[in-house]
Amino acid sequence: MLAPMTAAEQVEGLFGDGVLVLGARIDPEAVAALTEAEAALVERAVDKRRREFATARRLARLGLSRLGRTPVEILHAPDRSPLWPQGVTGSISHCDTRAVVALASQGEAGTVGIDVEHRDGLRRDLWKSVFLPSETARLEAQFDEAERARMALVLFSAKEALYKAQHPWSRKYMGFHDLEVVLGAPDAGTFSCTFQVEVGPFGRGAEGVGRYRLDAFDGAEVVTAIQLSPTAANASSRGG
Ligand SMILES: CC(C)(COP(=O)(O)OP(=O)(O)OC[C@H]1O[C@@H](n2cnc3c(N)ncnc32)[C@H](O)[C@@H]1OP(=O)(O)O)[C@@H](O)C(=O)NCCC(=O)NCCS
Repeated sequence: MLAPMTAAEQVEGLFGDGVLVLGARIDPEAVAALTEAEAALVERAVDKRRREFATARRLARLGLSRLGRTPVEILHAPDRSPLWPQGVTGSISHCDTRAVVALASQGEAGTVGIDVEHRDGLRRDLWKSVFLPSETARLEAQFDEAERARMALVLFSAKEALYKAQHPWSRKYMGFHDLEVVLGAPDAGTFSCTFQVEVGPFGRGAEGVGRYRLDAFDGAEVVTAIQLSPTAANASSRGG
């Protein structure tokens, strides 16, 4: 029987129908509810990591139940990607304050990627290693100084979300410069992504569209999300 947990919040507006997104404040009590195998994965981790990992597992089990599935343990592969039960696709993210989990039945959603960040913004000295020159130029042209660092954080987060969504298809690492992201205005809350290199089944030029929210919780966190599948238009032409 699960112990009571910090209230889970259902987050709307990040994905299309059929994808459930749950968030919760990081809950130290969740650690006690880890299964033996889950606990073993974070046995040597610092407390902060253990609490974030455990809060996400509680949310994942709650989400599986809400999808009508058995709330099983969620382990990870050697590359640390989460192992979802057969027929389910999902994604996990956590920051200092919150964990979020996106879950859907496979087939309805392709794969999903989600990312949450809790920082004032992305430090300027990190931009060069994370952004393409075109992305930096657009951040400067599109946003005034007051909002630029926060929108840079959204851009960074969108890359992390895309990485998580593409990985189940490609099983490949992507560098930050392997993807170009264009942010829409905050009132639209969308972003588009273009692969700059071939990655597994995604050809160079393959595209995806995601969403972001600056107000998903109490306004402190940035959340980004994307659904992805290698459609015919996006498929790599390698070998064919
Ligand atoms: C994997 C990665 C994206 C995780 O992001 P993070 O900000 O460190 O941490 P988050 O809390 O947002 O996400 C952690 C979760 O990601 C998931 N994850 C880890 N590796 C993953 C992978 N290869 N594919 C999909 N999900 C993965 C795990 O579920 C993990 O949570 P858990 O350990 O509790 O199970 C990041 O560590 C990384 O390797 N980034 C480099 C690659 C990249 O982002 N490229 C961007 C260009 S597209």
